[in-house]
Parts: sequence; structure tokens; C-alpha cells
Amino acid sequence: MKIFVDSADVEEIRKLWRLGFVSGATTNPSLVAKAGGDPKDIYEELASFLEHVSAEVVAEDADGMYREGKDLSSIHPNIVVKLPFTEEGLKALQRLKAEGVRVNMTLVFSPAQALIAARVGADFVSPFIGRIDDIGYSGMEVIRNTVRIFALYDINTQIIAASVRHPTHFIEAALSGAHISTVPPAVLWKLLKHPLTDIGLERFLSDWRKVQEAKVA
Ligand code: E4P
Repeated sequence: MKIFVDSADVEEIRKLWRLGFVSGATTNPSLVAKAGGDPKDIYEELASFLEHVSAEVVAEDADGMYREGKDLSSIHPNIVVKLPFTEEGLKALQRLKAEGVRVNMTLVFSPAQALIAARVGADFVSPFIGRIDDIGYSGMEVIRNTVRIFALYDINTQIIAASVRHPTHFIEAALSGAHISTVPPAVLWKLLKHPLTDIGLERFLSDWRKVQEAKVA
């Protein structure tokens, strides 16, 4: 499973990328608004060091989505256009695919939506785990069933486990066979930490220091 950062905060993403395990980022209008600044600069900068940067359209009609999608994809070859799973989004998806633009279908909440998006040509689908859990259903089940359906029919569309809220979501997405998990920075920092790593290192170093001190004495 590849690991993406779910954020538009360039500095935070760069910090995580420097550790070597992040290969992409997914943004959305809320995240870009929170980051501030010119969205085009954010996408351009992220795409200069990441292989995948999802940039979402804000138009609600297919013509507008198509035009925005074309503009976004012209910023950098690593930009993937994010379209919402709506009827207009499906129309825009067909037009963008016909022109070779890579698309990530977002706001996917069921395996049926994922299958339809894949059949229309989406390169990526993003089921939102956390938001499904929030309304009392199982987000992970949507991931598991989508993985199964895509395997049964040899579908190449990649599944991005999105709306990840905690480390357990991340591990379960990996076990379920999601191709990618897009994870907020706060959760990624938690994944790096384990109390036994800190305790273990402290013990190794103190044992080492004791021997060195004994040699000197
Ligand atoms: C996916 O690409 C979205 O940015 C996303 O994961 C939104 O998740 P949220 O439910 O935490 O807003």
C-alpha cells in the first residue's frame, strides 16, 4: 500500500516526504482553503517532489469541471484531477479521460459508486472511511468489498482509502488490500511513534554509555 498525505500544507507534507515513505498528496477545497495562498502554487510545488498530487475541481456542472480539470492537469504531469461522484462528475470524467487526463473520483461512499466510477474510467477512487463510520456504517467494509469486486473483474482502478482518522484505519486499509491510503499529517506522525522504540533506544544508549564510562575509569 502506498502512503499519501491528506493535506495542502506544503511544509508539513515536505517534512513527512523527507522521511522517505510518502509518495503523494491528496488535497480538497477545504484543505486548500485552510492552507491559504494561491492553490496553483500549492499544486505546482507539491508536484515538483511528489509523484501524485490530487487537485479537486470546485465547479458543479460537467462543462465547468472539464474546463477546471484541463487547467489543473496542465499545471504539472503529476497532477491528478479530483472529481466528485455526481452525475455531472461522471460526464466530466468521460471527457477528461478521452483527453488522457488522470482522474481520482472522490466522495465515494459505496462499492457501487466505486464500480461505476471505475467502469467510466476513473484511475483512482476514494472511499471516505471516517465519514462512513460517522454515520454508523463500516467504512472498512466499503474498502474490503471494493477490493473484492475490483479483483473479481480485473479492474485496474486504484483504491485510495480516504478520510482516515486514526492508526487503526491505516492498518486495516493495508490489510484490506487498498492500493493507497491518504492520511492526515497528525495520524502519520502518530504512526511513527511507539513507546517501546523510545524505551528501547534509551536502554541501548544508557548501556552503551555505562561501558564507555567504565573503560575510562
Ligand atoms: C480525500 O481525498 C479527502 O481529502 C479526505 O480524506 C477527506 O477526509 P475527511 O473526512 O477527514 O475530511
